[in-house]
Amino acid sequence: MEDAQLYASANALQRRDALLVLSEYLPQMAWRDEGEAVMDIGCGSGDVTRNLLLPLLPTVDHVTGVDVSSEMVNFAAKTFDHNSLSFRQLDIEKTIQPRQIFPDGFTKVFSFYCLHWVREQEQCLKNIYQLLQPGGEALLVFLANNPLFTMYENMSLKPEWHEYMKDVSNFISVYQHKSDPAQAMSDIAEDVGFDILSCEAPQLEFVFQNINYVKNAIQAVNPFLKRVPEEKREAFLRDSLQELARLKTQRPDGQMVARYSLMVAHLHRPE
Ligand SMILES: C[S@@+](CC[C@H](N)C(=O)[O-])C[C@H]1O[C@@H](n2cnc3c(N)ncnc32)[C@H](O)[C@@H]1O
Repeated sequence: MEDAQLYASANALQRRDALLVLSEYLPQMAWRDEGEAVMDIGCGSGDVTRNLLLPLLPTVDHVTGVDVSSEMVNFAAKTFDHNSLSFRQLDIEKTIQPRQIFPDGFTKVFSFYCLHWVREQEQCLKNIYQLLQPGGEALLVFLANNPLFTMYENMSLKPEWHEYMKDVSNFISVYQHKSDPAQAMSDIAEDVGFDILSCEAPQLEFVFQNINYVKNAIQAVNPFLKRVPEEKREAFLRDSLQELARLKTQRPDGQMVARYSLMVAHLHRPE
């Protein structure tokens, strides 16, 4: 997903969920009067970091948005220039020594709609643990399961699309087929050393305004589209939409609804 402009214009669902979770969890977190250093992992185009997270934080000195994609980081830095914000490239699932990159660490780490892209959950949580100062908290929000991933799996089995989607499993949440995704994530976080303040995967719904909106949203996050030759892209998107409709995402009134589980993990690094 590298088209930052398109993503920023088609992320109403992601923004709705970030707001929902922040409203519930920010009051539960322990806030200092000053000196809060915050990281936002997988900041993408930066608008959630700038327009939701930053204004809602009770106190903050600085927010650092990081993303694996340099295109996203450049877009975010150019678009959301602000005294309390900076953006840097970082791959959160790589074996890195994150405190060599950020020696002071962070008091809070947030992540919205990113960790379903991460295969190496344990390495990722180890990195987040290290990034946090002792006593710090993480709030991690991402897709536990989603019909979108089932659609990818089904599309990858079709002869006309198979060659572009051979590695489909790399793009599906590792929790998609778990019977208890929240427990699976808690287990990993506990092994890494976190206290689990809460970890849930509630079922949510989002009704899209119209079919074009769904198309844009799919296009904005579809990792396969850029591999499909340009002349076949329209057919690929049309087929993706039909496949989603078959997964009972279409209501009798014709509106498309996304029903999915959102992982919300609130973790604490012990003192
Ligand atoms: C769907 S966007 C979410 C953007 C934003 N947080 C929001 O809520 O709108 C997911 C972002 O995660 C980034 N991402 C995926 N894997 C990553 C990794 N291993 N490390 C850091 N960022 C990653 C992608 O580049 C993408 O920009």
